[in-house]
Amino acid sequence: MASQQQSAPKRSPLATKLRILNQIAFDRRNTRLFSQLFYRSTGSEPEEYAKWYFNNLVWQDTTWMGIETYKSPCDMWNYQEILFSLKPSLVIEFGTAFGGSAIYWASVMRQIGNPFKVLSVDIDHKLLRPQARRDLDVEFVEASSASPEVAERIRQLRSEYPGKVWAILDSDHSMDHVLAEMKLLRPLLSRGDYLVVEDSLLNGHPVAPEWGPGPYEAIEAYEKEFPDDYTHDSARENKFGWSFAPYGFLIRN
Ligand SMILES: C[S@@+](CC[C@H](N)C(=O)[O-])C[C@H]1O[C@@H](n2cnc3c(N)ncnc32)[C@H](O)[C@@H]1O
Repeated sequence: MASQQQSAPKRSPLATKLRILNQIAFDRRNTRLFSQLFYRSTGSEPEEYAKWYFNNLVWQDTTWMGIETYKSPCDMWNYQEILFSLKPSLVIEFGTAFGGSAIYWASVMRQIGNPFKVLSVDIDHKLLRPQARRDLDVEFVEASSASPEVAERIRQLRSEYPGKVWAILDSDHSMDHVLAEMKLLRPLLSRGDYLVVEDSLLNGHPVAPEWGPGPYEAIEAYEKEFPDDYTHDSARENKFGWSFAPYGFLIRN
């Protein structure tokens, strides 16, 4: 009868050396050293990845708790880190769509544990999923995000939920509309509040060069008019190498 014993897989001396090198590299203390010694960036990887992610429409097939969420996971992780350190009491989202991002804000905020409200505004809630609508921590408002009624509701919620605000613009991505949203928020945000202007990657920053003036140009136009309102959080913006919101991570002065 043939022996049942399995002999150890034979490795070439080179494979053994590589295995040992690998083990040394993944020792916590050596990872940084090995990365610095052996990794050379071409400088174009983040931009190539942004183009790959955007043009393959991966963002249209991304979900939070089963609900479509048109975002980049790197941004969402970044946002979660910012929310945890900012600990806002009011989250303002312009552009609800299916409700995935609204539920995401609520999930993270519940875990943080302080009293809060999420206000999510969309001009049309026909896409809004019933399971998102059921979240009692989110107030869904059907209106244009640049309308006075939205400004009034934010004013009320600020006094009901005193503290920091996290606001994110993700509705109509034309320059005029985003500029109107930024101006609407001007008297409503205070020092230390956080504003993210999403989809500033459109119009060639670096995707969709045919788009026309969009969120990126709105930020530029706003800053021309009100140069002292915001400080760019460049460290956060660049943390994961690429973002749907380049130039769009803003802290209110
Ligand atoms: C990119 S989607 C929002 C995606 C969502 N925040 C997410 O992460 O899944 C843009 C949404 O903005 C809405 N929208 C378009 N124009 C608007 C306006 N003037 N005011 C408010 N919402 C608007 C659209 O109806 C659409 O649902």
